[in-house]
Amino acid sequence: MEYVTLKNSDLTVSRLCMGGCPMGGYGWGDVQERELVEAVHTALDRGVTIFDTADTYGLGQSERTLGKALGQRRKDVVIADKFGVRAGNGPTFYDNSPAYIRQALEQSLRNLNTDYIDLYQVHYRDGVTPLSQVIDTLEALKQEGKIRYYGLSNIHKEDHPELSPFAGRIVSVQGEYSLACRKNEEELKSLRDDFSMTPLTWGSLGQGVLTGKYGKDAVFAQNDRRSREIYVNFHGDKLLKNLSIVEAMRPIAQERGKPVSAVAIRFILDWLAQSVVLVGAKRPDQVVSNTEGTDWRLSPEELAILDNISRD
Ligand SMILES: NC(=O)c1ccc[n+]([C@@H]2O[C@H](COP(=O)([O-])OP(=O)(O)OC[C@H]3O[C@@H](n4cnc5c(N)ncnc54)[C@H](OP(=O)(O)O)[C@@H]3O)[C@@H](O)[C@H]2O)c1
Repeated sequence: MEYVTLKNSDLTVSRLCMGGCPMGGYGWGDVQERELVEAVHTALDRGVTIFDTADTYGLGQSERTLGKALGQRRKDVVIADKFGVRAGNGPTFYDNSPAYIRQALEQSLRNLNTDYIDLYQVHYRDGVTPLSQVIDTLEALKQEGKIRYYGLSNIHKEDHPELSPFAGRIVSVQGEYSLACRKNEEELKSLRDDFSMTPLTWGSLGQGVLTGKYGKDAVFAQNDRRSREIYVNFHGDKLLKNLSIVEAMRPIAQERGKPVSAVAIRFILDWLAQSVVLVGAKRPDQVVSNTEGTDWRLSPEELAILDNISRD
């Protein structure tokens, strides 16, 4: 396993993070809790030390399953949790207000069966609460020992002016990034280099399309979000482009004796320095093949092939 120390912190974590979205048991087709728990154990045994989740994933189910799976080993890992997507009677909405942050944190601590969260991240900004107020609240929670560090997610250029005063205090930023989604590359590099935040990539396998197991006729069950057109990686021209990227990865994977998914993960590790790659997994075998993305490097020629084929 490869490790990196998150900026502005003493958190050293594996560069491969187990993503907890499928662990929510909602919107990813059928998942089995027993397999998810085994997947967490496999990740631990293979040197993964950071686990990402959010209170909104299955409305707490992802946190509950993660807490249960970690058990006594909770103290050995970094839990990266997210807040700010709020469920009410109607559709979900974003809320970063100080009172809600405290309410959300208490519920997450109960769900995870822990008394602290290592990295507490703003899932989405709510467009109302000033960042200074959010940071003040997170700093207070740090002082109280309920969180160790905090980070952001889904930040864009228009947020930069508000971010500047806090550079050096915010540890990390999550953004969508993969061979199927290069549009945030410059943004993530700027947040890393100009604002001192460690990039955490989500959708690193393009929600699964970069594993090589899906073809142009991929069909998903109704309880799988990828059946919906807004999951662009599996629809129309974008799907065809993604499949051409998969075809470019296949000979590299074969030559290196690695799964295609490992090549997709390796690209991020090599191309986006200092990043942590979040990969959602449903079963132990997926974790095993994802860890095959670590501890080797793509050659400059292989990187050039993948860079060229995946440019927008
Ligand atoms: N900050 C944010 O707004 C945000 C947004 C989205 C996600 N995230 C985080 O980032 C994590 C990663 O993103 P993601 O889960 O959306 O997408 P992803 O990691 O690109 O894809 C995950 C899916 O790929 C398939 N898969 C994974 N490993 C595989 C393997 N080795 N072989 C074959 N199939 C494999 C699984 O689905 P199938 O087996 O069904 O194909 C899995 O659910 C999430 O879990 C979550 O923690 C954050």
